[in-house]
Amino acid sequence: MTVTIVGSQLGDEGKGALVDRWGGDADVIVRYQGGDNAGHTVVEGGDEYKLSLVPSGAVRDKIGVLGNGCVVNPRTLFEEIDGLRDRGLDPDVRVAKRAHAILPYHRVLDGIEEEVKSDSDLDAGTTGRGIGPTYEDKAGRRGIRIGDLLDREVLRDRLEYVVPQKRALAEEVYGLDVAASDHADAFDVDALLEEYADYGDRLAADGMAINCSQFLHEARQAGDRIMFEGAQGTSIDIDHGIYPYVTSSNPTAGGAAVGSGVGPTVVGQGEVVGIVKAYLSRVGTGPLPTELDGTDREEELADHIRERGGEFGTVTGRPRRIGWLDLPMLRHAARVSGFTGIAVNHVDVLSGLDELKVCDAYELDGERIESMPATTEEWGRCEPVFREFDPWPDVDWSAVAAEGADAGLDALPAETRAYLEYLSDAVDAPVYAVGVGPGREETIELANPFETA
Ligand code: IMP
Repeated sequence: MTVTIVGSQLGDEGKGALVDRWGGDADVIVRYQGGDNAGHTVVEGGDEYKLSLVPSGAVRDKIGVLGNGCVVNPRTLFEEIDGLRDRGLDPDVRVAKRAHAILPYHRVLDGIEEEVKSDSDLDAGTTGRGIGPTYEDKAGRRGIRIGDLLDREVLRDRLEYVVPQKRALAEEVYGLDVAASDHADAFDVDALLEEYADYGDRLAADGMAINCSQFLHEARQAGDRIMFEGAQGTSIDIDHGIYPYVTSSNPTAGGAAVGSGVGPTVVGQGEVVGIVKAYLSRVGTGPLPTELDGTDREEELADHIRERGGEFGTVTGRPRRIGWLDLPMLRHAARVSGFTGIAVNHVDVLSGLDELKVCDAYELDGERIESMPATTEEWGRCEPVFREFDPWPDVDWSAVAAEGADAGLDALPAETRAYLEYLSDAVDAPVYAVGVGPGREETIELANPFETA
């Protein structure tokens, strides 16, 4: 039995709240893509834990797996694990030997390339964590995998091949004087070998490095429940998103199979839940047709939503761009991942507004279209066709959440219910949960996907 959690928009839809809630019913929680570019906050026993790599379930005595589709920065991994241990926890984290390692030169190159791209407005506004350069090396067959860290000779061979290339790229293409910079160690084979072979020793000593496919197969045979935790979101998927303003992996549900080594049938026989934020937010660059930035009034509204929704990047602290909910984006997401249900978050943030709009369709070159076009240039030319909704009043959302435990959707204002119904119809999937506040208890659960799967 599996449940896959997918971001339906541009990341930051509040996936963590649902992973946290339903992950309690799982035995194993698997991340299948991305790396320490994801940020999630887990509150357990009154304590707050901020994590960017370790799956949140590891805070709750679940096995947290980083699948082969992830890119793993061992520095971050052990920093997070040690931080949790210092606070009295004993996280059980396993890492696929087939996952690729992020090395210091990947981060350096991420920063330099973004700066160069910004001259032509092609920078994606990355998190600077070296994600793109690591996936580039994976596809270029010059990457270093977690399994390679366990064997000093193999690691030396790999580093001796790749590091001079990276150094030449930094120096000869991008003009960095490596020796005179702060990054000399990032391009030094011996320094890298020492540090990364140590990580390998620790992974081996702690029994953390696994054959992910086999591990999950055995877990399923033993009857374990598995949750696949997508990071980022559909519109920043490298294949299905707004290329090139995307991350370099597949947050969509297909990634769960490829990025962990289970068959697509395993994912497809389970539930695939799309997490939706009731409006849009975006940390990176690129077009955003429903963005609230055209007039002073729109900017004021965006400021209000940003403050109320805490819309500042978890990893980078950057203020997020804000827009109205975009249904063509959601229709695309529902189709690409095959949503069996959705969870809608942050509906409280929209309460008490004077106006409430949803982009129902786009107009592109005089034609009405209901789904995202396949090129980002076309998407940038799309004019939103808005539909107005009656705004809902500000109410005591904690009380609504408490009442919702029995009353379900009836606990919500009628205007909110109309909005959710419209949304659910548009993506042809039922609403499994509604987030009405940031706290753990502030989610109204209508169905638990582990019980329907
Ligand atoms: P990267 O993943 O750091 O390479 O960044 C590529 C793009 O994905 C940038 O536009 C980032 O802002 C965006 N991105 C990466 N991780 C997240 C996330 O967790 N939430 C939202 N956007 C993200």
